Amino acid sequence: MIVVSSEQAMKEFGQTIGASLRGGEVIELVGDVGAGKTTLVKGMAVGLMIDEDIQSPTYTINRLYTARDGITLAHYDFYRLGTAGIMADELNEVVKDSRTVTVIEWAGVVDTILPADTLRVTITATAEDERLVELTAGGDVSRRLHEAIS
Ligand SMILES: Nc1ncnc2c1ncn2[C@@H]1O[C@H](COP(=O)(O)OP(=O)(O)O)[C@@H](O)[C@H]1O
Ligand SMILES: [Mg+2]
Repeated sequence: MIVVSSEQAMKEFGQTIGASLRGGEVIELVGDVGAGKTTLVKGMAVGLMIDEDIQSPTYTINRLYTARDGITLAHYDFYRLGTAGIMADELNEVVKDSRTVTVIEWAGVVDTILPADTLRVTITATAEDERLVELTAGGDVSRRLHEAIS
């Protein structure tokens, strides 16, 4: 459990994660609306040296960003979707790409598609500006990442 005491600190934690990414990682972000999932992704983008602003993909489902070292960041948000629909096939390919980092908000509807080896990041609001972050690694790739950022 990590205590993150401000929006800025969440961005910095995201930056630490982003700087440790090699490509091929799959990250699930779990938490209510306003937990700080997108804030964390904005920080990851800094660590991945992405120039563009990260936009919440809520109404478009996914966005792709070009990152450092030939890495692509694929950012998905399945908020309010009952099923992944036509996104399922695409996601199934994307998570296998060793040059792509896949980050998913509201991953519940794609649970059956995702590999076991994901880093699950669960964010819980404990006060207006304070969040608890819990990390769970499901395999070797996500364990390496977990160790690199701990
Ligand atoms: N410690 C914190 N970490 C992340 N966000 C925080 C924190 N404290 C306050 N906030 C606020 O919570 C909101 C998080 O929004 P966002 O990242 O879009 O959440 P989500 O994507 O989980 O819905 C922002 O308005 C941010 O300013
Ligand atoms: Mg969001």
